[in-house]
Amino acid sequence: MHSLKGKKILLIISGGIAAYKALELIRLLRGEGAGVRCILTEGGSHFVTALSVSALSEEKVYSDLWSLTDEAEMGHIRLSREADLIVVAPASADLIAKLTHGLANDLASTVLLAADKPILIAPAMNPQMWNNPATQSNIATLRARGVFQCGPEAGDMACGETGWGRMSEPAALLEAVKGQLGRKALSGMHALVTSGPTYEAIDPVRFIGNRSSGKQGHAIASALSEAGARVTLVSGPVALPDPAGVKTVYVESAREMLEACKQALPADIAVFAAAVGDWRPSVSKDRKIKKSNASSAPDITLTENPDILHTIATLKKERPRLVIGFAAETENLEKNVRAKLKKKGCDWIVANEVGPDESGQEKAFGRESNQVYLCTRSDFEHWPKASKREIALKLAERIAQEIGDHEQARKRRNKKS
Ligand code: CTP
Repeated sequence: MHSLKGKKILLIISGGIAAYKALELIRLLRGEGAGVRCILTEGGSHFVTALSVSALSEEKVYSDLWSLTDEAEMGHIRLSREADLIVVAPASADLIAKLTHGLANDLASTVLLAADKPILIAPAMNPQMWNNPATQSNIATLRARGVFQCGPEAGDMACGETGWGRMSEPAALLEAVKGQLGRKALSGMHALVTSGPTYEAIDPVRFIGNRSSGKQGHAIASALSEAGARVTLVSGPVALPDPAGVKTVYVESAREMLEACKQALPADIAVFAAAVGDWRPSVSKDRKIKKSNASSAPDITLTENPDILHTIATLKKERPRLVIGFAAETENLEKNVRAKLKKKGCDWIVANEVGPDESGQEKAFGRESNQVYLCTRSDFEHWPKASKREIALKLAERIAQEIGDHEQARKRRNKKS
């Protein structure tokens, strides 16, 4: 019942009408056994009183960066050091902007800047403020930095407008906190995921690319992160938002992708979902190739790109415990995939058929759903057609099982020796 027993939460209540919901959140968190210490910003104190916050948390409420007594007793650095999670609810547009830009001109922003703990924000503001490109760009930056977000929800606002901007309900926030603090299957693991296409430059404006949307790779990065892993996503150019809580590194070419993957090591798990270009133009011109200067169409000779999956799967040192490749095949699926598993030196291959289906539509690239096969060294499993998100969740579950089995085998070996 007390799923947060012994956990310490630092709750920052910033200015907004939704601050009243923070009181209920304190009650729910304490009901689950968590200790809650609160910072009430100047804005927040216009909506709820320090007395209510203190009565519910049964702790002193902190508000002033320059309070000699507070600093003597606790110190703003210790406030974050002693917490397991920092929750900002409501997170006003102003505090989100401060957090994004590293401002530290009050207690809340200073504590956030000095934080070495995960941060969960619950944005709450007027829909126009939420939709403003400034807020959206701040939110994207924070997500890319690994700040977790819960809400906002859509609905009627206190200001009379309707739209996105309502703070999530306290019960939903409690679930988000539990999601962050509960031990998860892949907690403590680092996962490397590649996603999207690569672009191989012909000249500054032209490139050789492919149809990969990155949807499957990005979904896998999200699913592994939700399963508790720290995830580094190395992505080619895609039109997708960065997955929340995932460190996303953008690259263009196969060679850049390999470099970024090497930089991300060591990793426990590596999933290579990117559609890496097998070849690149042998020469990439630094000026645009002009039609008017050429007597005929240019000959483009190609050079083979490094194989990222094979390189990482065959590393002597730093080989991840579980290396998973992808295969896109148009024919002889099982035979080709089994051969590919050996050739690449990986542990599993997730295979799918690409190319047009009976109605002439592409089967996998850019689609929302996918039908895949999981090829391990001993099995070849047919997975039913499902959304890319569902496939990602199932794969994360299988990875967690496999890693769990590895761990148990390791512990058995350690006991024997
Ligand atoms: N891959 C990679 N680096 C490359 C090419 C592919 O890491 N230069 C990875 C992909 O991310 C995928 C797997 O290898 O996980 C399979 O890629 P695929 O293109 O199907 O295999 P190829 O070896 O290129 O074989 P073929 O094109 O002959 O099917």
